[in-house]
Amino acid sequence: MCGIVGYVGRRNAVSVLLRGLKMLEYRGYDSSGVAVHNGANLCVVKRAGRLCALEEALSTREVKGSCGIGHTRWATHGSATDQNAHPFVSSYGKFAVVHNGIVSNYLQIAAFLRERGVSLASDTDSEVIAHLIDYYYTGDVLSALCRALCDIKGSFALAVISVYEPHVLYGVRKDSPLVVGEGKKEFALCSDISGISDFCSRFCALQNGEVVRLSEEGAALFDFYGNPLPMRFENREKELFEDREEGVDDMLSEIRSIPASLRLGFEKFPKEELRAFLKEGFKEMLVLGCGSAYHAGLVFCEAMREVAEVCVRAEIASEFLTEKPCVGEGTLVIVVSQSGETADTLLAVERAKKCGAKILSVCNARASSLTRLSDFSLITRCGRERAVAATKSYVSQAQYLLLICLEYADITGKTNIDEVARLRREISLLSQKTESICRAEKRLEEVALGLKNAEAVFFLGRKGDLAAAKEGSLKLKEVSYLFSEAYPSGELKHGTLALMEKGVWCVVVATDPSLLQKNAATLSEVLCRGASAVVITAGSALEEAPADYVVTVPEADPVVSPLFSAVVMQYFAYFAAKARGCDVDKPRNLAKSVTVE
Ligand code: M6R
Repeated sequence: MCGIVGYVGRRNAVSVLLRGLKMLEYRGYDSSGVAVHNGANLCVVKRAGRLCALEEALSTREVKGSCGIGHTRWATHGSATDQNAHPFVSSYGKFAVVHNGIVSNYLQIAAFLRERGVSLASDTDSEVIAHLIDYYYTGDVLSALCRALCDIKGSFALAVISVYEPHVLYGVRKDSPLVVGEGKKEFALCSDISGISDFCSRFCALQNGEVVRLSEEGAALFDFYGNPLPMRFENREKELFEDREEGVDDMLSEIRSIPASLRLGFEKFPKEELRAFLKEGFKEMLVLGCGSAYHAGLVFCEAMREVAEVCVRAEIASEFLTEKPCVGEGTLVIVVSQSGETADTLLAVERAKKCGAKILSVCNARASSLTRLSDFSLITRCGRERAVAATKSYVSQAQYLLLICLEYADITGKTNIDEVARLRREISLLSQKTESICRAEKRLEEVALGLKNAEAVFFLGRKGDLAAAKEGSLKLKEVSYLFSEAYPSGELKHGTLALMEKGVWCVVVATDPSLLQKNAATLSEVLCRGASAVVITAGSALEEAPADYVVTVPEADPVVSPLFSAVVMQYFAYFAAKARGCDVDKPRNLAKSVTVE
């Protein structure tokens, strides 16, 4: 999973590529590099580490040219070294390639090339692509590229330049996203639109099996056999909402913008269109997603059980891929994804579709691979999320899933009109109530400082509180590297209680008033064994609980409260990570968008 960018036009390619790579760093930040045609040769500069290492290297070298490609890497094959950084060039520097995806048969191709005298310099699956194109080159770059594509298996988005064509850039897509952008007598390629949207006005999302050739003469589209296809560009609506504070970490800025995205989300929710889609009628529902998106799905399942009295399953997309698929005609699969490009999620969608299921997606990227695969899409309105940790996107997903639940309950008549109206009003107040949590930021920082040196942190809860606890735990481990686990409170005594001792912390999520006694008991169980505890409650007797910290969230229906608890725990994660000196926006080993299986 990486980010790729390419440019051909009249500007200085290096600065365009660096700007694009900055926007793509969320896709991986183990190394980065650029290759530019300088009129005579392909000039390559690449460095392990963050983009600033590449910028520094480029500041001491003159790399001039107006056609080039760039890459930011999340290491899968081969460690994060200069040698394994992209772009890769073929033996005599004739072709340069950047790749996002995985070449699944790279060992066979490497053996094929070695037998023909080619020596490979890296441990990656990507390097073979440059050599293979070179191997097939007999005077026509497009033909060589297409011939090579016939041999490559796996998933790939590629940007390719060659020494033979100083002003031509090629892009290829198979199962990894790639967007073509058109500016003023210039073209660009990028893994997502954000990296090129400042100077491009029209865009084309390449489809699987397409190759694009970009030059001063224009853009030409081909299939993998070199047959011409009609080129299609479309204008793109600008992001509706981009609320970012200068000089503040993205994660913090994104948490602080949750009230605004909830407000916009509520206003823009396409209720009538959704109702028309749901009226089709479905026998059963399944929710699919990964990470935080899956956790948002758990909030939905709880709401469906409580409000619509329907039992809905949520499955982790990668698990769905390995199990017997229990879906078919009449199943509505609700797919949740911020990026709409998560490989496991997309593969799961394809599998569910093959079985005859209908797809409703909740996605933050309008023109993503997921929305293209869906029968109906709801676009969350939280704007671009840059920090690797999902914060505002998770809350927006949960908000839209609750609204789906209400519409479903209303249509099926499972819930009376007054109850639906009451819950709709609760959801309309989410933004305002979350503001009060954001105002208590200082207090949440205090709590985070309390648990920052914990030996382990357990997030405990029941029902909707457990769904929130799972997200709280993921957030904390992801950005602070503290060991954490979410656990159903009632299960503690069946084993995990053995781990409670001094130095261990528990975050007891206890907002559901109907569970007051049980939650109080959980708290006593962990405290009397020496663990420290934070209680998150919503105006109950637990406000006086003998915990180390008590945090009160706004009172709400138990199906809505997980959203508030989650925001509180996002703050815990952020402040604990800061206090531990972690890079909150780019945690180690991770990337924002996981586009490999
Ligand atoms: O783009 P997606 O919502 O499909 O991404 C799913 C997960 O990779 C994502 O939620 C991940 O778990 C976050 N880093 C969690 O903060």
